[in-house]
Amino acid sequence: MHDFVYHNTTKIIFGKSSMDSIGREAALYGKTMLVFGGGSVRENGVYDKTIASLKENGVEYCQLWGVKPNPRISKVREGILMARNEGVSLILAVGGGSVIDTAKAIAAGVPYEGDPWDFYGSAKAPEIALPVGVVLTIPAAGSESSMSSVISNEETGEKLGCTAECFLPRFAVMDPQNTYTLPAYQTACGASDMLAHLMERYFVRTRCCDLTDRLIEGAAQTVIEFAPKALADPENYDVRAELMWTGCIAHCDILDRGRGENGRGGDWASHQLEHQLSAFYDIAHGAGLSVIFPAWLKFVSGKDPAKPAQFGRRVFGITGLSDEETAQKMISSLEYFYRSLSLPVRLSDIGIGRENFDEMAKRALEAKRGKLGSYIRLTEDDVKEIYTIAE
Ligand code: NZQ
Ligand code: ZN
Repeated sequence: MHDFVYHNTTKIIFGKSSMDSIGREAALYGKTMLVFGGGSVRENGVYDKTIASLKENGVEYCQLWGVKPNPRISKVREGILMARNEGVSLILAVGGGSVIDTAKAIAAGVPYEGDPWDFYGSAKAPEIALPVGVVLTIPAAGSESSMSSVISNEETGEKLGCTAECFLPRFAVMDPQNTYTLPAYQTACGASDMLAHLMERYFVRTRCCDLTDRLIEGAAQTVIEFAPKALADPENYDVRAELMWTGCIAHCDILDRGRGENGRGGDWASHQLEHQLSAFYDIAHGAGLSVIFPAWLKFVSGKDPAKPAQFGRRVFGITGLSDEETAQKMISSLEYFYRSLSLPVRLSDIGIGRENFDEMAKRALEAKRGKLGSYIRLTEDDVKEIYTIAE
């Protein structure tokens, strides 16, 4: 196990009574800018409950609406202007990863004199940001307690991430009841994303990290067990609660400490390959991952099947086969799981051809400054091969 630092200060307020805390938490900071997506929170009562809690605690607020999935830098710029004009002290994201990532980018952009896009895909992470709070409505991206923000630039066609300690939300309100209204496809995409966050952290070469291996395996089994149950019974509190907590645990970084390069890592090549897909084709992140992850696993299993085989034996209970055979069977089981949630597992399932393979491979390497993947380091040709396997 490598040396590591673990530091996560997001206060998680979880459960049926958690929505009552919003105003009390916001009041610690002062005037609040609410950030919303396209309006699902108006239909499921989350908006009314949030406003009621703010009013009850005498918190002044303003509102920014219209964050789109694969959130755009133009909305971030609009939010920065509004936050400055209104003189807010807290940015409160009410939604999923797209809304939270936009809130983080606004929070860093307010005290910054340059353009917020400067922070994305560069080594220049922001050091200060306004406080960010979260009311989570979809378990998926894990942004509610992560240091990351992922934003798309509609002018350049790029989708890039930024990781900064000041992005860590101060608090996250998580009521599983708020996820009852998720469309089945979004529930499935969320499950795919949290499973991907677990697998990215699992596939490392570090020896002696058995505790985190076992924790990841348990969390992966939880996703595999509860995602189909959520589709069958969308208003089952216990099922939604398992998924919501797993999505947070999967991405709050505790599962990658001591692992990977520098003791704080994972592989993350599949995420990078997916970010190219959602940048070029504006697809849901979780749907891109259910296509890319099996293809990546096929590619790396051909080079070193040991860790995929361990995942197959421990998570899917595969026995009596060689490492190569176990890895293959694990990948088939994973594809079967995705298909059972009506997720795509091939590029052709989502109408994507090979027209941008060269450019996507080039950009994937550029985004990681040439160091893509850790279980197997990938070249541009490797990336093209993985996209080809995914066809
Ligand atoms: O627009 P609204 O009304 O909010 O509707 C959303 C949106 O259409 C809808 N939705 C959310 N909660 C709902 C609901 N509909 C009904 N009932 C509810 N309770 O779901 C749709 C998708 O929302 P979005 O926020 O895009 O989903 P998700 O949480 O999956 O976020 C995806 C984004 O997060 C990034 C992804 O790349 C993508 O851009 N990621 C962020 C990460 C991070 N910051 O740490 C890590 C991830 O790996 C990921 O890259
Ligand atoms: Zn993800």
